[in-house]
Amino acid sequence: MTNFSPYPGMQLSIDSTIYEFQPYRYLPDDEEDVWAVEGQEAIIYTLRSRENNTLWALKVFKPSYRGDYIERSSQELQRYKHMLGFYVCHRTCLTPGAYSSLIQQYPDLEYAVLMPWLAWKTWASIIRLRDSQEYTREQALSLATVTAQVLAELEKQNEAHTDISSVNVLCSPDFRRVELLDIEGLYIPDAPVRRISYGSVGYQQRRPGRHGLSVSEGDRFAGAILLVEMLTWWHPKLRSLTPPNATALFHADELQYKRGQRWQTVRDVLWSINAELLKLFDQAWAASDLARCPTLRQWSECLDRIAV
Ligand SMILES: Nc1ncnc2c1ncn2[C@@H]1O[C@H](COP(=O)(O)OP(=O)(O)O)[C@@H](O)[C@H]1O
Ligand SMILES: [Mg+2]
Repeated sequence: MTNFSPYPGMQLSIDSTIYEFQPYRYLPDDEEDVWAVEGQEAIIYTLRSRENNTLWALKVFKPSYRGDYIERSSQELQRYKHMLGFYVCHRTCLTPGAYSSLIQQYPDLEYAVLMPWLAWKTWASIIRLRDSQEYTREQALSLATVTAQVLAELEKQNEAHTDISSVNVLCSPDFRRVELLDIEGLYIPDAPVRRISYGSVGYQQRRPGRHGLSVSEGDRFAGAILLVEMLTWWHPKLRSLTPPNATALFHADELQYKRGQRWQTVRDVLWSINAELLKLFDQAWAASDLARCPTLRQWSECLDRIAV
C-alpha cells in the first residue's frame, strides 16, 4: 500500500503546470464520485490541469511495483504514440532524477506516470453494468474489428501487451475505437523483460511456457477470449447465463475445460455471425500452447471480411 493520501483540491506542480486532484464521476448515473481507482499494481487518480482544464490520470505504483523499468518503458513507449490504441503512451514518468524535489516531498510519487485521462468505459464496466441493451450486434462487430486491428498491429512487430483483459481496455462510446491501458509490461523482443507476465484471471491459457505471456505470441489466447466477449455480449441469453458482477465471460476454471451451457451459447452466437469465427474460437479453446492459438492477424482478417 502507499502512504500517499491526496485530498480533493490538492495541487501538484509538474513541468510548470499546476494540476489539482479531483474526484471523478465515472458514469453519469453513478451515485458517487470516484476518488481513485485501484488496479493490481497501482492507484490511479484524476487530476485537472489548471492551465487548460484538461483531465489527466496519475498512476501511482504500489511500492513493490516501483522501479526504473517504468522510466525505460516510458521512453520505449514514445514510439507507439501514433499507433491506434496507444494514446496513453503520451506520458511523463516522474523519475527521481528529473523530479527530485517533488519526490522528496511525496516519496510515493517515485516513477508515477502522468498521462491523459480518457473518459471512456473499460470493457469490464460494460460487462459488469449490463447496460448491454445499448450494445448491439453491429457495435459488437465494430468493437471487435478495431480491437483485433490494434492487437494484430502489435503482433506484426512481434510484440505483445501481455495482460489483455477487460479492465485494461477502454472502449469509445460509439464502440469504434479502443485504447489499451496498463502498457508498462509490453513485451518487446530483445528489450530486457522487467517481470514475466502471467496475465489476468479469466484470460489465461492453461500452459503458458517459461516466459509466461512475455513472448511474441503472448496476446493470442487472452486476445481471443476478449474478442469473443466483445463479439457475443450483445446476446441476451449469454448475459442471462453470466453471473452478476462478472468482469469476464469465462470463469478461470472453465477456460479450455468446461463445455457447459455458456460455452455452447458462445459457440452458437459466433456461428450465427460467421462460421470462421467459431473455428478460430474452437482452435484457441483447444490450443495446448500459445503458439497453437490462431494469430491475431487471422482474427483481424476474418473480422475485416465480415465487416465488408
Ligand atoms: N488514462 C486513463 N484514463 C481513464 N482511466 C484510467 C486511465 N488509466 C487507468 N485508468 C483506470 O484505472 C484502472 C487501473 O489502471 P491500470 O493502468 O490498469 O493499473 P494496474 O496496472 O494497477 O492494473 C483501469 O482499469 C481504468 O479503470
Ligand atoms: Mg490494469
